[in-house]
Amino acid sequence: MSNRTFTMIKPDATAAGNTGKIIDKIIEAGFSIKAMKWTQLSMEDAQKFYAVHAERPFYGELCEYMSSSPIVAAILEKDNAVESFRNLIGATDPTKAEPGTIRAMFATSIAANAVHGSDSDENAAIEGSFFFAGRELA
Ligand code: RTP
Ligand code: MG
Repeated sequence: MSNRTFTMIKPDATAAGNTGKIIDKIIEAGFSIKAMKWTQLSMEDAQKFYAVHAERPFYGELCEYMSSSPIVAAILEKDNAVESFRNLIGATDPTKAEPGTIRAMFATSIAANAVHGSDSDENAAIEGSFFFAGRELA
């Protein structure tokens, strides 16, 4: 069990002006920010980042959406970070997300669901190094 996870605040949430509110929720939940940047993915970046989903029917739509507006990428630290963060964000489909979770509060659909959270320690490390060099971690 690692104490780090990786997140993105997704295009729907940055475009709606919810970035600050979502960062507040993350900090209130006890995560500390190890690295953070505001950036925009190209279509190619999104395809590379979501390569694990290349065979899924929503892959094309997902990559188009993820490159449509800026995102905020961050590496977060807390005990049991991956599981704890996925509990904080709630289910992929916001209609199934527990009240009070970030997706219940800010997601608009299953595709535009406000935030990403890594699903394993291994993927957290891979995804974090997609965006950040070791030097960028505080
Ligand atoms: P994430 O990776 O973004 O944290 O989301 P997740 O684990 O809850 O869901 P995952 O199965 O990994 O799917 C990745 C993202 O693809 C979009 N999606 N669209 N149209 C659809 O049926 C559909 N299903 C998934 C969502 O943006 C989801 O977060
Ligand atoms: Mg996932």
